[in-house]
Amino acid sequence: MKIPFAESWKIKMIEPIKKSTREQREQWLKEAHYNVFQLKAEQVYIDLLTDSGTGAMSDRQWAELMLGDESYAGATSFYKFEATVQKILGLKYIIPTHQGRAAENVLFSYLVKAGNVIPGNAHFDTTKGHIESRKAHAIDVTTDDAKDTQKEVPFKGNVSLEKLEKVLKENPNNVPFMVLTVTNNTVGGQPVSMKNIKETCTLCHKYNVPVIMDSARFAENAYFIKVREEGYANKSIKEIVREMYADVDAATMSAKKDGIVNMGGFIATNREDWFEGAKLFCIPIEGYVTYGGMSGRDLNALAQGLNENTEFDMLETRIHQVKYLAEKLDEYGIPYQRPAGGHAIFVDADKVLTHVPKEEFPAQTLTCELYLEAGIRGVEVGFMLADRDPETKENRFNGLDLLRLAIPRRVYTDNHMDVIAAALKNVYDRREQITRGVAIEWEAPLMRHFTVKLKRLG
Ligand code: F0G
Repeated sequence: MKIPFAESWKIKMIEPIKKSTREQREQWLKEAHYNVFQLKAEQVYIDLLTDSGTGAMSDRQWAELMLGDESYAGATSFYKFEATVQKILGLKYIIPTHQGRAAENVLFSYLVKAGNVIPGNAHFDTTKGHIESRKAHAIDVTTDDAKDTQKEVPFKGNVSLEKLEKVLKENPNNVPFMVLTVTNNTVGGQPVSMKNIKETCTLCHKYNVPVIMDSARFAENAYFIKVREEGYANKSIKEIVREMYADVDAATMSAKKDGIVNMGGFIATNREDWFEGAKLFCIPIEGYVTYGGMSGRDLNALAQGLNENTEFDMLETRIHQVKYLAEKLDEYGIPYQRPAGGHAIFVDADKVLTHVPKEEFPAQTLTCELYLEAGIRGVEVGFMLADRDPETKENRFNGLDLLRLAIPRRVYTDNHMDVIAAALKNVYDRREQITRGVAIEWEAPLMRHFTVKLKRLG
């Protein structure tokens, strides 16, 4: 008999979680204004809001915490962290920050000027926020493959070189950099191929435009390159990662994902001028450059997390679980962005709640329905998240409208995946009866999804 697959770790510590009744959830969701960000975590049974900062650290990471050096300047923890990032990414100058958006804030404060145009394969919302708040423009150049959730292609996160070249050609001397996001979170945790990374860098450099890798899920991207792209099957994840970064000019990192820490981030670059420029913003915004918003113990845990999460077995266990959930949804016929991505399943709300008009936010409605069904908290990655166009103030209805089920690293078991799939099936089975969605009662001018207040229609 073939030995089945099992996790490459065992569990040393557990945290109890609580179930609730439908009546309780109805009340809690109403109090949260139909916005799951406003729920208390204890009102949630299985929390798939994000895979960011929600992973379980290993015994070795916890051990590293005890070795943290909390010296204000020049701590041994910083040098351990710096050497690890230099070795793994192959980039020279490293600045720690407290999370990914802080890395963006520091680096973009130096690089972005009003009126600039910044292409990218679906900028994450904070990335877009840091561009648009500086009165610059973020232009999406993701391949059109990503728009069709049912199309099975191995590297749906890729950059469209045609779209990118058009932006570069039309904006001479006005593109300070291009943002290459691996994996492409917004379109479904979809990977970018090594070929596309290299071609993107070559094209940008032809126009003298530097490339910044948004690296939140770089290790998952490397895993997909190894298993899906020709020529990489026999390379280690660490070798693939070095190759991914060989041509890029800098990286911003949210270490809360593939660093498997609860808080942390960094900037890495080969450009001394960017390093010197960014340092001037790091000190007032984040802190002195050898801690940048992180404590010594957290820098230690991050160094360990980066080392272990760039090993094949760790990534295989993780991505196997996401695929396990996807296969359950296949069994029940529930449509999601195919093939399953690295960190999450993105359910295609448009294809589930076909009677809810887009003006009533189908994916947000589906997010509420799943919570009411079983206390499972996913998150809308759709029309609510897309915010309004900064110029026309109109809702942006042109992208995908998805419910993201982000799987925290090393936290839930496959039994939890079974619960998620069954709850979603129950909602799916009664989809014809769901005809009305939600309406906005109050919203913030930027990144409204965190705080938006909604009312239920119908
Ligand atoms: N870039 C990407 C691709 C991200 O997914 C995120 C965060 C960031 C940058 C910002 O990093 O949160 O450390 O400040 N994504 C989280 C998510 C919040 O749920 O996908 P951060």
